[in-house]
Amino acid sequence: MSIGSAYISGRPHLLTKLIRLTAMDSLLQTLQSSPIFFIILPLLLAFVLFSLTTLRKKLPYPPGPKGYPIIGNMAMMDQLTHRGLADLAKKYGGLLHLQMGAIHVVAVSTPDMAKEVLQAQDLVFANRPANVAITYLTYDRADMAFANYGPFWRQMRKICVIKLFSRRREESWASVREEVDSTLQTVMNTTGSKVNIGELVFALTRNITYRAAFGSFSHDGQDEFVKILQEFSKLFGAFNIADFFPWMGWINARGFYKRMARARESLDGFIDSIIDEHMKKKKKKNVRDEEGKINYNDGEAEAEADTDMVDELMAFYSEEEGVAAKGDGDDLQSAKLTRDHIKAIIMDVMFGGTETVASAIEWAMAELMKSPHDLKKVQEELADKVGLTRILHDSDLKQLTYLKCCIKETLRLHPPIPLLLHETASNTVVSGYNIPAKSRVMINAWAIGRDPFAWEDPDKFNPARFLHENAPDFTGNHFEYIPFGSGRRSCPGMQLGLYALELSVAHLLHCFNWELPDGMSPGELDMNDMFGLTAPKACRLVAVPSYRLTCPLKIF
Ligand code: HEM
Repeated sequence: MSIGSAYISGRPHLLTKLIRLTAMDSLLQTLQSSPIFFIILPLLLAFVLFSLTTLRKKLPYPPGPKGYPIIGNMAMMDQLTHRGLADLAKKYGGLLHLQMGAIHVVAVSTPDMAKEVLQAQDLVFANRPANVAITYLTYDRADMAFANYGPFWRQMRKICVIKLFSRRREESWASVREEVDSTLQTVMNTTGSKVNIGELVFALTRNITYRAAFGSFSHDGQDEFVKILQEFSKLFGAFNIADFFPWMGWINARGFYKRMARARESLDGFIDSIIDEHMKKKKKKNVRDEEGKINYNDGEAEAEADTDMVDELMAFYSEEEGVAAKGDGDDLQSAKLTRDHIKAIIMDVMFGGTETVASAIEWAMAELMKSPHDLKKVQEELADKVGLTRILHDSDLKQLTYLKCCIKETLRLHPPIPLLLHETASNTVVSGYNIPAKSRVMINAWAIGRDPFAWEDPDKFNPARFLHENAPDFTGNHFEYIPFGSGRRSCPGMQLGLYALELSVAHLLHCFNWELPDGMSPGELDMNDMFGLTAPKACRLVAVPSYRLTCPLKIF
């Protein structure tokens, strides 16, 4: 039988396949027994790899505005905001490329593209970009939020999730309750006059995180600490030419480094003394433990039993430098933290947990004041489910369906972190476009929450859309709704943040009625936002409270 006749209706006959396999087999055997095989194979592999790389290099970058030689699109720097990038996306699409000096910037503005980078290629996109200031001020990325993905980050995340943010760590939740109670008392003392809700809630969340982090220590130093935070925030966002052209780092380097060094010195001075106090407390307690003389009814011992975040982190304390980085990321027993790690984690908590929650509370109150119909529905629900004869308890929250819808809708329209900042760990291809390693990736959660193909009437505040059975939730599996991100780098403080947010808004609306000042109508409310690490209201919300309950506000 000829080879030609071995084809039946265009398919190779079984016998032909057999002959080919046998021939191949003997060829492989001959090659394997020859030393040439070991030269050819690596060459072949290198050729395939080279071809793939060249192919990728030939792929274009995602669409984007044309830039100038060397500086690229740096003239468009002021457009790197959630609104600026959303406008560019309308012209260039959901995956956009900008060249900022030596840096590739990729903006992701649609749910489909977000799914591609946060789910399908999560591993490649799980690094964080860090500029010169961030690297310096986080003690060379000794924290969790700015650490690149890897064993060190896994170890840090595990410590934070289990020891600091877990629902089982009752002290964090207690800090929220106590500070909300004290805020209600402040409002009660100012009923009938204007209250700056913005300032009120920023002070509230600062107090919550400060208390959760440092417990009863150094409350007097809080103002000093706020100043340090503000300077850090300014330096994180400050323009520094070295971030875009590393070879031009000498320009203004001395001034910039001096300012950064001063900021870090202030933080060192502040937190070092807190760490020292915690160490003394720990030693004292150990001695007393050994003597077996602790009296748990004694006030001092009770305060000691009430652990704060620094206490939790001190349990991993070691003088040895860099040990945490050596862990395999899975074994918490062997985890060790230096002073720098502890300081950097505390700063993560301060930055992650303060402005995010405060801006969300202010936006929720503003949207509800702007929409009296929804405000009425929330207050009716509170009157119905809780009643006006008592203060609200934690256990009431799960019954407040409409209030929760309002919170979700607020986070859709005003995600506190509008741009999620990631970095690619290696070269990759998305949607047929070349994305180089170390590209700065900005996932526009703000634009995605307002995507006209994913949301009906996207710019309208309509909490009822979340009443539907298939409405998106916070799990990060619905890529049209990612206020807490999705995947590996999603927010580890989500439960705590949501609790603070829901509890504050529920209490403020249950205890008080709110009127806009000076006869202002809801339509006149300024709803512009500001751009920074978060996107708070540009103009603070001011309103006049009146007491609503029929029982006295007895909290303490
Ligand atoms: C309404 C409240 C909050 C919102 C909307 C929010 C949102 C987010 C978002 C969008 C990210 C980045 C996700 C990404 O890059 O893909 C993030 C990260 C983070 N958040 Fe939150 N957050 C909130 C509250 C909190 C709280 C209360 C804490 C801590 C007490 C916290 C700690 C962090 C930390 C440490 C990270 C960095 C995680 C990492 O890089 O692995 N957040 N958050």
